[in-house]
Amino acid sequence: MKTRALHLIAILGLLLAGSLQAQESTLAPTPPMGWNSWNKFACNVSEDMIKSMADAMVKSGMKDAGYQYVNIDDCWQVSRDAAGNIVADPQRFPHGMKAVGDYIHSLGLKFGVYSDAGSKTCAGRPGGLGHEYQDAIQYAAWGVDYLKYDWCSTTTQDAKAAYANMRAALDAAGRPIVLSICEWGKAKPWLWEEVGGNLWRTTGDIQDRWQGKKEWSPGDCCSYGMLDILDLQVGLESYAGPGHWNDPDMLEVGNGGMTDTEYRSHFSLWAILAAPLIAGNDLRSMRPATHNILTNKEVIAVNQDPLGREGTRVAKNGDLEVWAKQLKDGSRAVVLLNRSASEQNITVAWEDLGYPDHLSAAVRDLWQHKDLGKFTGKFSASVASHAVVMVAAKP
Ligand code: GLA
Repeated sequence: MKTRALHLIAILGLLLAGSLQAQESTLAPTPPMGWNSWNKFACNVSEDMIKSMADAMVKSGMKDAGYQYVNIDDCWQVSRDAAGNIVADPQRFPHGMKAVGDYIHSLGLKFGVYSDAGSKTCAGRPGGLGHEYQDAIQYAAWGVDYLKYDWCSTTTQDAKAAYANMRAALDAAGRPIVLSICEWGKAKPWLWEEVGGNLWRTTGDIQDRWQGKKEWSPGDCCSYGMLDILDLQVGLESYAGPGHWNDPDMLEVGNGGMTDTEYRSHFSLWAILAAPLIAGNDLRSMRPATHNILTNKEVIAVNQDPLGREGTRVAKNGDLEVWAKQLKDGSRAVVLLNRSASEQNITVAWEDLGYPDHLSAAVRDLWQHKDLGKFTGKFSASVASHAVVMVAAKP
């Protein structure tokens, strides 16, 4: 009798462990895709704007292309009530946060919010410190699917412990919620496997420009041009995989600070990096060029490849670079990047892709949507200034 009871307990334990594991692997099995308010709207968020953005995500074909999360960044919150519950801005969100989440869900999309591990968010709104479990229960009740958790006003807090605490709080609330760690890479969050973050920022904030880092200033988190962030990803590729991704910050495609050519490069490189594809532009008024970039299904397929490998730089010759990502079917996605001011010829050698020299591979251009033929040993293309040529090479 006693042994039977023990067996039963053991079986129940195994079942529970199995279902917890299953829950973990269903959160962000491929890099999350969605939209976030910060890059374009900063603190100017409201129920009306978020709902119209969710509508636009469906109408524009972004949803069909794979975008899923509608994420409200900083400034939706104004205070805490007497019981310590977080209070949404009653003017900007007159029907409360659950109504926003319900609307987003009614369109078949997912709902994300933002908070901070410290006492205040980066925009000075109430942070989550000391309210982790209370907030997690509230988020679950609102139907939140994704939490971006920032790192302002954290003084002497230990970063790893703070994020582990929030992960535990979210798990205890009983709703699967993606945890987006926004600690800017300061304490190397890519080493925190046991914390259970689904993505983590690797750097300070992206700015809508091709290149040029702005220095750190006290209390601020620095900002980087697109290429500066790209360079900081080299060496981190082994830490990414299904359920846990390096996050080189959200997309600036369509926000006006770069040319369409540069935005095509930005998007191609984020795809190769297996980066979360979180658009940051106004989806309600996209120019066709912006729309074509954000919805290129062949490039998105590289990003979302189920093997979940992050690509990296495999060759560099001054301003000319080759980036490559292994795909599940054994083929490679390749980006030829020209950082220079003039048109250049760039070659990818098969040996830099881990292919033997004598191998013949079919090359397809993922922006022209065109098969280019079979190539042995290498492939070369002429690449305009600040542009990429992105291909798939399939043996
Ligand atoms: C930090 C984050 C940004 C954004 C702002 C909001 O700077 O890194 O992505 O969330 O805070 O205040």
